[in-house]
Amino acid sequence: MPKVNVGIIGCGATAQFHARAAARSPRINLVAVSDVKTDPARQMANTYKVPKVYHNDDELLDDPEVQAVVLAVPTHLRAAPALKAFGAGKHVLTEKPVGMNAAEVQKMIAARGRLVGASCTSRNRFLRQATVAAEILASGKLGHLRRMRVTCIWPATRPTLEKEPVWRLSKKLNGGGIMANWGCCDLDFMLGINAWKLKPKAVLAATYGPPAPFIKRLPKGSDAETHVAAFITFQEGISMTLERAEMNSSGKISTWEIAGEMASLRMEMNPGSHNPDLLLEEILADGSRRTQVLVKDGGSMEDIHSGPVIDFANAILDNRPPKTTLEQALIISQLTDAVYSSAQTGLPVVL
Ligand SMILES: NC(=O)c1ccc[n+]([C@@H]2O[C@H](COP(=O)([O-])OP(=O)(O)OC[C@H]3O[C@@H](n4cnc5c(N)ncnc54)[C@H](O)[C@@H]3O)[C@@H](O)[C@H]2O)c1
Repeated sequence: MPKVNVGIIGCGATAQFHARAAARSPRINLVAVSDVKTDPARQMANTYKVPKVYHNDDELLDDPEVQAVVLAVPTHLRAAPALKAFGAGKHVLTEKPVGMNAAEVQKMIAARGRLVGASCTSRNRFLRQATVAAEILASGKLGHLRRMRVTCIWPATRPTLEKEPVWRLSKKLNGGGIMANWGCCDLDFMLGINAWKLKPKAVLAATYGPPAPFIKRLPKGSDAETHVAAFITFQEGISMTLERAEMNSSGKISTWEIAGEMASLRMEMNPGSHNPDLLLEEILADGSRRTQVLVKDGGSMEDIHSGPVIDFANAILDNRPPKTTLEQALIISQLTDAVYSSAQTGLPVVL
């Protein structure tokens, strides 16, 4: 079976999932890893029997054996190796969010040519609820689409706060906070199950920083938001409310919904909840309501994390687009930029 030779740049927390999936895949040869720190790179190479270890990205990118790279470095460090990789004829899978802003994603699109440029924002769409929801949306069963609702609130129970990486809530290193970290996945999930047919029209948003008791526990330079609320309209008439928060005063809430005139889908985007992962709620011909569980348990964290790199390799070998293209990532990035811009001015942004 043909295989693609992959190199991973950045051997931190999320790269472990990529390496594990690559090592198990019959279509991937994990040939090289690189990290500026010695230990993470050596450990990854030992665990997954990777022959080449680099501590300088350029050496991995100059290696002719490497055909495709996974960029699992913090966000501010992704554009430069992505552009260099495309320039060297290598395919690129970037962690999420793809870039610091839409301008960086546009540069990647311009450099990509006919190579595969893919994004890990696709991660949650490897679960069964996403596939079934997409089929139902394509069938028109929901009737005229009205509202999408993302509400995901994590309560203030963060015992490991001091150990979190510095980039996580840094505008300079990550492009933003929870909107950049998680909003990109919400947008990919909701726009992706709608087959990327919805065209954003306008955004009104507000962002909020961490509650006072957490501020001094966070790494220095944590200046980004931990709470975002956005209202997004689309040319097709449907609108979306998106609220994401961590370290929050209220208890856990998690809902991803799409409401049509005749029926609604209620989903879980992450595995491990006690709720069914996909519910269909409909108005019947006599005006009564019916609720059906369509997917009880749509998959595991491993399914989520291994999905993008397996799809990336398959897209290269099967000569097809990946699950999230850079053009789709650009839509997400433009919406994210609009959220931050609107939050700063208090005014809507027309796209
Ligand atoms: N942690 C997760 O579960 C998770 C999940 C999905 C996506 N992500 C995304 O993946 C990215 C990385 O997250 P993480 O949690 O793995 O971070 P991390 O801090 O655990 O790992 C980042 C690694 O990159 C290395 N690094 C830094 N600069 C480098 C360079 N120039 N060249 C090579 N290596 C370099 C660091 O030494 C570190 O080992 C983030 O953008 C994050 O949003 C993380």
